[in-house]
Amino acid sequence: MTVVPLDIRPSMGSDLSDPGFGIYVHWPFCAAKCPYCDFNSHVRHQPVDQPRFVQAFLKEMATMRRLTGSRSVTSIFMGGGTPSLMAPETVDAILNGIARHWHVPDGIEITMEANPSSVEAERFRGYRAAGVNRVSLGVQALNDRDLKFLGRLHDVADALKAIRLARDIFPRMSFDLIYARPNQTVAEWDRELKEAVSYAVDHLSLYQLTIEEGTPFYGLHKAGKLVVPDGEQSAVLYEATQEITERENMPAYEVSNHARPGAESRHNLTYWRYGDYVGIGPGAHGRLTTGGAKIATATERKPEGWLELVEAQGHGMIDQELLEREAQADELLLMGLRLKEGVDLARWQMLSGRDPDPDREQFLIEHGFIERLGNSRLRCTPAGMLILDAVVADLAC
Ligand SMILES: C[S@@+](CC[C@H](N)C(=O)[O-])C[C@H]1O[C@@H](n2cnc3c(N)ncnc32)[C@H](O)[C@@H]1O
Ligand code: SF4
Repeated sequence: MTVVPLDIRPSMGSDLSDPGFGIYVHWPFCAAKCPYCDFNSHVRHQPVDQPRFVQAFLKEMATMRRLTGSRSVTSIFMGGGTPSLMAPETVDAILNGIARHWHVPDGIEITMEANPSSVEAERFRGYRAAGVNRVSLGVQALNDRDLKFLGRLHDVADALKAIRLARDIFPRMSFDLIYARPNQTVAEWDRELKEAVSYAVDHLSLYQLTIEEGTPFYGLHKAGKLVVPDGEQSAVLYEATQEITERENMPAYEVSNHARPGAESRHNLTYWRYGDYVGIGPGAHGRLTTGGAKIATATERKPEGWLELVEAQGHGMIDQELLEREAQADELLLMGLRLKEGVDLARWQMLSGRDPDPDREQFLIEHGFIERLGNSRLRCTPAGMLILDAVVADLAC
């Protein structure tokens, strides 16, 4: 396996005061729908008209550019769905469009999600030539039985081939695994995760299986035909995950994301540090500062409906909500407490106009769920991460 030297600038993501400005582009199609997934992804049995989508992406970019004004981009992320179903020419046209609308400095992180079942060397080289410098592969499991259970189109051999190819072609790469699967023991996960770490370059996303409403897994779960690990077993699996990745110098920097120091995803850090990001494409969300106000944007989820809206009015936005300062403070907390670096308290106080409730804060500190980092930051402890939603709800209201 030839490993291309890593292109990690030390400053990437290390300046806590700069949340960055990201561009997210959503490709909403998949070759098949996985039974656990509630992302905005659709299967089409006719070829997708990619040039028509490109024109619509460019049009929507122009509208977003009017909202954001001229800005310098710190990261680009093409997510899905399955962006690796896009032709390299489509990716090239999208990246050129972004560079026409905003300033895109050389060498910024440009990530694309890819499925091991739709990976070919030629296409990967085409994405690289278009400017993609980081790939995030949806590996999900390293045993064929569980890949089948998860409804994936690839097997372990395909996954390993895709990892090797990604490592050869892109300066940076990450892959996703889903754990806390039915009947998964700690010993099995321990073996699988150690194997995964041995294939990893600089970044891993390790998600606990969640049962999402409206998915086939939800129906099976409700009918008692799919049993996932309970809270206690999930906590044990989570703790094993932290231990192994820390030992391997790939600690968590966010609830589910692990990186070698300096290799954190710049783009995802922008979300969690509550920076601005533009969301382009069907079902994409954005957070933008425009005319001194922060707004939340959301576009039409159905690909064909989104196309029609963009062609008629220049964008597919169906929602533009002005975020009051209190709502921004809640979002800052919700996102920031996911991070090991925690939340900037001065920023939170400026937005909310108050200090954290001293009694609630004290209670959470005494029970070992949160801690202060000096006077300026507040973060969850590992125990707090396990009950993150409850911690946020307690502090936010
Ligand atoms: C939107 S998917 C895109 C990646 C790509 N389409 C793929 O599946 O290979 C991003 C990641 O979310 C994770 N994911 C999706 N649904 C999940 C669920 N219900 N529970 C845990 N992880 C999930 C998977 O690990 C997946 O790779
Ligand atoms: S997990 Fe990925 S491949 Fe599967 S349906 Fe969701 S977006 Fe598509």
